[in-house]
Amino acid sequence: MASITIRQLDEGLKQQLRLRAASHGRSMEDEVRTILRAAAAGSAEVAPVRPSPRRSEPAAVEIAVPSPTPNLAASTAMRRILLIIGGGIAAYKSLDLIRRLRERHIAVRCILTAAAQEFITPLAAGALSGERVFTNLFDTTSELDVGHIRLARDTDAVVVAPATADLMAKMAGGHADDLASAVLLATHRPILIAPAMNPVMWARGATQRNLARLLDDGVHTIGPNAGEMAEQGEAGIGRMAEPLEIAAAVEALLGDGGERPLAGKRIIVTSGPTHEPIDPVRYIANRSSGRQGHAIAAAAAAAGAEVTLVSGPVNIPDPPGARIVKVETARAMFEAVEAALPADCAVFAAAVADWRVAAPGHEKIKKQKGKAPPPLALVENPDILSTIAHRKAQRPPLVIGFAAETENVIPNAKAKLARKGCDWIVANDVSPETGIMGGETNSVHLVTENGVESWPRQSKDEVARALVSRIATALAAGD
Ligand code: C5P
Repeated sequence: MASITIRQLDEGLKQQLRLRAASHGRSMEDEVRTILRAAAAGSAEVAPVRPSPRRSEPAAVEIAVPSPTPNLAASTAMRRILLIIGGGIAAYKSLDLIRRLRERHIAVRCILTAAAQEFITPLAAGALSGERVFTNLFDTTSELDVGHIRLARDTDAVVVAPATADLMAKMAGGHADDLASAVLLATHRPILIAPAMNPVMWARGATQRNLARLLDDGVHTIGPNAGEMAEQGEAGIGRMAEPLEIAAAVEALLGDGGERPLAGKRIIVTSGPTHEPIDPVRYIANRSSGRQGHAIAAAAAAAGAEVTLVSGPVNIPDPPGARIVKVETARAMFEAVEAALPADCAVFAAAVADWRVAAPGHEKIKKQKGKAPPPLALVENPDILSTIAHRKAQRPPLVIGFAAETENVIPNAKAKLARKGCDWIVANDVSPETGIMGGETNSVHLVTENGVESWPRQSKDEVARALVSRIATALAAGD
């Protein structure tokens, strides 16, 4: 990492930089950054950028010069996608999607529609993708250098996120009046769209007709999800799928191009909390979000496994590629797991309630003035992990449990490994100050008969992929 200041440049160079920055509506500092990024991506020129109000030139600017990032797309072994970012508020999530795809070693090249540039900048997309960003069908430099036909072909798949109602209409109608639609018409690669729009727009006949036509044309879709809209007071179906879901769908789409070390394997995953009824309206529950279990199901499916996810009640989207059995209670979860056997591996990530109410009320239990609250007699729920791990018949060759502890994490996990009869325990500290319960990251210890491995704190998604990779190695060794 070297460091230069614009003040150190000679006058001629400074003047050229000033003119160039002014013509692009950028500050001199931004112009230098753009030139460096374009150079790192292997081009001396840069994609045109929508003019923005000119900022005043700083007297002296310190510019950190990064060591050139490798042009990811240049690596032929690497899978690559073309990401078309449409103009909707969800465009900001596409910046995170770029990160998520690159974490998975997928090179990303971006096209931003004119409307997308009202929400995010090509500079942001370029900085995250490490690649030149394309915006304009009629840009001479881009057309001579790469060309929309090459953009359409030089990729393993095309992803449209957010896919606005307008972009979907253009695709369905075969329009080609801007770079995004021309590329979509010219590509013979698989296309995945992540629609995002207001629920009324989504439900409209026109959008649904366009969707039907796109599905007919073999276009893949992910989402939209139900939930709150960016507009205040609006809710319904129309939220763009989350970046992790889209990334998993991209991996599933790239399929055989990627590694599928769990192809041919059956995996059962439990996830989320259970709800144990007190009466028809009340229940006992816990704070589990299901994020870790769902991420494991998605990672296993992306690795080619046939996954059955048995999920308690959660507020997160279904992971793509898995068969999902939704349950409420521990007993229902147990039955669903048994029904999913045989399997090569079972991962019990659910936070199953230890107890249920012995005799839940058939009607809502009423508060009675002057009377003590009703006693809640509890009985123990079946221990799904332990029962499956101790089965004589159809015991999956690899049984993995989780241990959420608030103290003595490793000693407790070791004891649990022996008591439950499982092969591995993934242990973590869920004391409130860690923020793990319901949070995005996790810091786990893998406890096996061979010892304890402590993994660094990472996203639940990364934990899932690391675990799936270990499962693949173990199952391959057992074959
Ligand atoms: O006993 P404890 O709840 O700490 O054990 C945690 C592990 O056991 C997790 O893998 C969890 O999914 C599993 N478990 C289960 N059935 C239960 C209780 C826990 O499968 N009734």
